[in-house]
Amino acid sequence: MNGRIHPHYGTFLPTRHEYVDLVAQAPLSNPELAFDVGTGTGLLAAVLVNRGVKKVVGTDIHQRAVDCANENFARLGLQEAAEAQLTSMFPDGRAPLIVCNPPWLPGSATTTLDAAVYDPGSTMLLQFLDGLPHHLTDDGEGWLVLSDLAEVLGLRSRQLLLDAIDQAGLEVIDRLDTTPRHQRATDRSDPLHAARSREVTSLWRLRTKRPGRLPPV
Ligand SMILES: C[S@@+](CC[C@H](N)C(=O)[O-])C[C@H]1O[C@@H](n2cnc3c(N)ncnc32)[C@H](O)[C@@H]1O
Repeated sequence: MNGRIHPHYGTFLPTRHEYVDLVAQAPLSNPELAFDVGTGTGLLAAVLVNRGVKKVVGTDIHQRAVDCANENFARLGLQEAAEAQLTSMFPDGRAPLIVCNPPWLPGSATTTLDAAVYDPGSTMLLQFLDGLPHHLTDDGEGWLVLSDLAEVLGLRSRQLLLDAIDQAGLEVIDRLDTTPRHQRATDRSDPLHAARSREVTSLWRLRTKRPGRLPPV
């Protein structure tokens, strides 16, 4: 992407590139409109506009993140195509693509920065899955970006995620995986080194289940 994303104090700092690459590379079938739930600095929204998505609406529950994202869109000259709103979870309406990179660990959050890393009880993750069928267009796709660090640390099971996808009325079209390339994944002095070295970050391509639709191969 041309240009840089500037984080505001207290806004999630995207220091890792691998999940951004997943969003930059996943097959994009309908470029008309996308939602970016929990937009933070607006990074993923900007990536989507750079991929040719005509309009991206990002949301965040923190005003600081909304201001930061809108500033980044303006600085990158993307303000006509991307906007951030102060909204919990989904904007109004439906979109053919809805992206969400929720906090990856189900711990408790006290500061706004914590809230970007910790998702108490996996609330945002589960709200995203439950809400997707109500906000996707008929043939729309939800892209859930999630590391399995919580699973590696024994904080959440893969089965919980698969059950939540199923119970929300969704099915998996595909899963794109990548392994972390950030410094802490190879830093043996990091107390979480063993877990981080096994971590896989995935982009789950999800769609609404339809009676009669053949299951994904
Ligand atoms: C892990 S950060 C991801 C930020 C950005 N999308 C990225 O990938 O760099 C998660 C973001 O979700 C936001 N968030 C947490 N709960 C939310 C909710 N209920 N509705 C909208 N955004 C929320 C946080 O403020 C944070 O900016």
